[in-house]
Amino acid sequence: MAFPPSFIDELVARNPIEDVVGQYVNLKRSGSNMFGLCPFHGEKTASFSVAPDKGIYYCFGCHKGGGAINFMMEIEGLSYPDAVRKLAERAGLEVPEDEQYQSRYRQQERLWALMKEAGRFYNAQLYSPAGAQCLAYTQKRGLTKAILTRFGVGYAPDSWNALVDAMHKKGYTDQELIDADLVGQKNGRIYDRFRNRLMFPIIDVRGNVIGFGGRVLDDSKPKYLNTSETLIFNKRKNLFGLNFAKKTKLGYLILVEGNVDVITLHQYGFDNAVASLGTSLTEDHAVLLSRYTDQIVLTYDSDEAGQKAAQRAIPMLEKVGIGVKVLQMQGAKDPDEFLHKFGPEKFRLLVEDSSNRVEYQLKAIAGKYNIKVDEEKIKFVQEAADLISTLPSAVQREIYGHRIAEAGGISFESMQLEIGKAYKRRVAREKKRQEKIDLAPAKHRQPESRNIRYDNVKSAIAEEGVIAQLLKDPSLLSLAGDLHAGCFTVPLFGKVFQQVCTRYAQNLDVSLGVLTDLTAEEMSHLTGVCQNSQITAGETAFRDCLAVIRGVTQAKAVSSDDDLLAFRDKLKERKGTK
Ligand code: UTP
Ligand code: MN
Repeated sequence: MAFPPSFIDELVARNPIEDVVGQYVNLKRSGSNMFGLCPFHGEKTASFSVAPDKGIYYCFGCHKGGGAINFMMEIEGLSYPDAVRKLAERAGLEVPEDEQYQSRYRQQERLWALMKEAGRFYNAQLYSPAGAQCLAYTQKRGLTKAILTRFGVGYAPDSWNALVDAMHKKGYTDQELIDADLVGQKNGRIYDRFRNRLMFPIIDVRGNVIGFGGRVLDDSKPKYLNTSETLIFNKRKNLFGLNFAKKTKLGYLILVEGNVDVITLHQYGFDNAVASLGTSLTEDHAVLLSRYTDQIVLTYDSDEAGQKAAQRAIPMLEKVGIGVKVLQMQGAKDPDEFLHKFGPEKFRLLVEDSSNRVEYQLKAIAGKYNIKVDEEKIKFVQEAADLISTLPSAVQREIYGHRIAEAGGISFESMQLEIGKAYKRRVAREKKRQEKIDLAPAKHRQPESRNIRYDNVKSAIAEEGVIAQLLKDPSLLSLAGDLHAGCFTVPLFGKVFQQVCTRYAQNLDVSLGVLTDLTAEEMSHLTGVCQNSQITAGETAFRDCLAVIRGVTQAKAVSSDDDLLAFRDKLKERKGTK
């Protein structure tokens, strides 16, 4: 769905970046920019900047950046159109919508409203006579009234039509109940899907009830019934409890397996607990989590399945920049049981004691072997050496090396030898990789973003220059001659160039904040380019860049590193020349 560009202009003009960001981040002025603590990654010194004159934000720490629309998308987890709507609402602008969107959005809104009504219904049932047994069950599980209310916990009565009837009365249709996955169908009739279950509403980060998890009150199977995928619910993209945990002041999140664990943790003051809704952690979960924290304490169940799940989750979380610690419990299978048995203070100590993932993984390796048997001891030492050899710091390697040597009852010298061997294997592999890179010098000055490639680095740098300058001073376009999107070797820059041209021709605003159709990654990269650009917009520098792009488009030459460096230096010299 495309909004009219003139509408986007007005929207951006009426939503100054410092006001929009200021709702979430405490900003302090320093020169023409403003600084604050980045809301996208945990930090103690302010590396998050806002440039009111450019209408952009940029974090020098995590490299996220963009205009006001992007900021809303990132911070609230909204789609582009929804971020636009939110900003429009904020500025009191009416959004020009097309019909297809309107019907889909209306459908979504109806489902949100229906789920909220259903949540209210279940909640009221918990305190009705029909819910007495369920309420007693929650008390048996040690849950307080206050926490049940906070999480909106409810009871689905033991009836085939209680919810259906109640929702019909509120004006919802059979089809809407089906779309929300609140009912089953048989012989053309619908019936309550959740019966005689303790109901946990699943609430997204925006506060909408999007699904339910319903737990049986005894040992019958299946233990949980969950909302399956609907227009508003996807379990692979949402986490139970994140609506509260995202506001925690504790500075880290606790990732657990069960809904009950989350609620009990919150009850005991750990308002930073979340659970992945009965599925193993997905990449989408990891990205979502990285928006709110850079430190996670994994607290999976102490059984084998839980430990396996933890091993799987570690690399996924590290990949998105989250530091992982692993908490291990003894005397209880999960946090819920632990808290009731030993209390929150003991749990807090466990959190403090939770080891980094290396210690955890070493323990896991140790657990696999019986080191009293020589053959197994050898395997244990080798596998541990493999793990240790991956550590980047020599100090770490030495410390863990000592520990394994001691555990294995071998000398530190032999252990060092083992680590050395594993390390050499790794280095050899790395060297081979490096050789490949060296043979293609243009390949290794790549953007950090994984999805943006510079196939021709020399041209890409010139393209960066052209785009950064145009976004500062679009009148430079008059010098661009027949330059067109196809001349750019980086598709992102071609796409942006196209938008700049169209907007400039129509006398519309040209700035980062009004660009559309870019992914968050693309927008961040672009903002970084503009923020870090050494070049001051000016005719000479612009012409230099053009010449390089033209040269490249004519010859498609692969540049040498020397050329590249010379070109970079030249651009820097131009700094300040108008
Ligand atoms: P648990 O069995 O640990 O559930 O499963 P729990 O919520 O901690 O409940 P208690 O403590 O046994 O009462 C962990 C999560 O896996 C999902 C649920 O989301 C649950 O919270 N699950 C479990 C299902 O989706 N279906 C099931 O049949 C079981
Ligand atoms: Mn549990």
